[in-house]
Amino acid sequence: MVSRLPISPQLFAIFSALIAEKVGIHYEAGDRELLGDKISTRALEVGFDSLLDYYYFLRYDPAGAAEMDALIEALVVSETYFFREFVQIDVAISEFVAPRVLAGKRPRIWSAACASGEEPLTIAMLLAERGMLDKVELVASDVSERALARARAGVFSPRALRGNAPPPPYAEKWLRAMPDRVTVSDELVRAVRWRRVNLLDTQEIASLGGFDVIVCRNVLIYFHDNTARWVVNTLSGALAPGGVFLVGVSESLLRLGTALACEERSGAFFYRKVA
Ligand SMILES: C[S@@+](CC[C@H](N)C(=O)[O-])C[C@H]1O[C@@H](n2cnc3c(N)ncnc32)[C@H](O)[C@@H]1O
Repeated sequence: MVSRLPISPQLFAIFSALIAEKVGIHYEAGDRELLGDKISTRALEVGFDSLLDYYYFLRYDPAGAAEMDALIEALVVSETYFFREFVQIDVAISEFVAPRVLAGKRPRIWSAACASGEEPLTIAMLLAERGMLDKVELVASDVSERALARARAGVFSPRALRGNAPPPPYAEKWLRAMPDRVTVSDELVRAVRWRRVNLLDTQEIASLGGFDVIVCRNVLIYFHDNTARWVVNTLSGALAPGGVFLVGVSESLLRLGTALACEERSGAFFYRKVA
């Protein structure tokens, strides 16, 4: 029995182009074996003995789109944890969300590639702590249904608390850390509107409406610059005037040439849509 289907440079080229087109994830030539392993595992699981046949199935068969979604599940990196890059979230709430609530508005926040949900649940916890959970609309999305299912269940592995700093003391109210899992209060999970959204899908993005804060952290790094630029432009279209866009601490939009203005507040960086 075959345990791995070989991936030639030509097969790598057509598969990586297909994946970039469908989900944006970019692979360098040096990733050929890594990508080949993942594709081969999935192709064998669903009964193919040739990667070229599997490619034609994905591209042209009526059932190809559903299989593409399953392959995407095998490719995405859903690395995340509670309180990740926490200062930026904390400052965003103080500077951009709280003033809108005080002004009687109902601000909207979107965690746009939330993986298994620790990021929007951290935001929900901070809002709850400040008595604003019911005054803000919080949407969280990812392309991975598997990751979203974990988020909706509110049960996480102990690694979900692996941040460098200890959780803030009030977290005890919302999180229960046990030796084998971490659970989150139902109230927080229910406060988030969970949606499957592919960041390359303009229609789905348009259907979400406008946002005051878009948190899009640690996902653009997986895209080619051209794709990242396109996604930032599309998401900027969903930002309300004066709204802010957040990327991860190791990411920058400046080299992509965004129309958003970079601002520093209390040591954290934001990209603001100039009103
Ligand atoms: C490393 S996680 C980042 C999670 C979280 N934002 C954080 O910073 O902790 C990257 C997430 O991006 C998602 N992703 C990758 N491509 C995507 C796309 N085209 N549309 C939506 N989500 C995508 C993956 O499924 C994964 O869950």
